[in-house]
Amino acid sequence: MVQETILKPSDFILPVFITEGEKVKDEISSMPGYYRYSIDLAVEELKECWALGIKCSLIFVKVPDELKDNLGKEALNENGLMQRSVRAIKKALPEMIVMTDVALDPFSSFGHDGIVEGQEIVNDKTVDVLAKMSVSHAKAGADFVAPSDMMDGRIGAIRQALEEGGYHNTGIMSYAAKYASCFYGPFRDALDSAPGFGDKKTYQMNPANRLEAIKEVEMDVAEGADIIMVKPAHAYLDIIREVKNSVQLPVSAYHVSGEYSMIKAAAKAGYLNEDQAIIEVLTGIKRAGADLIATYFAKQAVQLLK
Ligand code: PBG
Repeated sequence: MVQETILKPSDFILPVFITEGEKVKDEISSMPGYYRYSIDLAVEELKECWALGIKCSLIFVKVPDELKDNLGKEALNENGLMQRSVRAIKKALPEMIVMTDVALDPFSSFGHDGIVEGQEIVNDKTVDVLAKMSVSHAKAGADFVAPSDMMDGRIGAIRQALEEGGYHNTGIMSYAAKYASCFYGPFRDALDSAPGFGDKKTYQMNPANRLEAIKEVEMDVAEGADIIMVKPAHAYLDIIREVKNSVQLPVSAYHVSGEYSMIKAAAKAGYLNEDQAIIEVLTGIKRAGADLIATYFAKQAVQLLK
């Protein structure tokens, strides 16, 4: 009666990794129990999740090496894996909210989120591509685009491009406070997208900073974001709370791949109870202020809540 925080299925955003082929279901070695699916099996999996009450998916694609380049040209292909995935999911599940990842790293021969010149990840040229990419996802039927790249000024540019393209109803979930975190390791295995040189510290945030998160969030709100994200989640609960207190928008938090794999590994070793850990951590993230939680545990959590 006095419990303040109650998880429910519609709190969750389900990340989905899609790969080329048919009838493909590959387990990601550093994410036990999590898979890359071909489009046909991704649709089947999403139908099951929809029936369990999950309302939102966040799509990532694994791009074949031969289609990667420095400019992310494949990201704009109307028949690219992302665009085909969105069309197939919206056709099978028209009511499911489909969000698409917008960033160059899965398409980049350097594994960086932006275009590389010399040793630099160049901001403004990247923003142009991200805006075009967003329009292409909207055209394929995405309900939300989710820029995860952390370039400056991209929310404004994406908003403007969507308006000009006539996609007035496409939302933007901005990864506004995204930290340069070691907890993204398993995700980079999943998409084969680890940076080929250097790291992402020139565009992602220093984990030691708090005020900068608020500044990043305020910029994205001013530029037209509809949902603000903090990422990762478990090590950044204070940031989630501060962001929640300072914006009048829904706040999402991304419980990232390494945070998933830590629980899986500890449970497998018998160090803790997996089911209890999942519910406790996700409840903590919601209690910290997340209205929405992107998590690889979405399906398991919903099954546990039932
Ligand atoms: C990159 C991107 C990353 C994640 C989502 N989009 C990794 C990175 O910044 O290198 C991480 C998600 C996770 O670890 O679960 N655009």
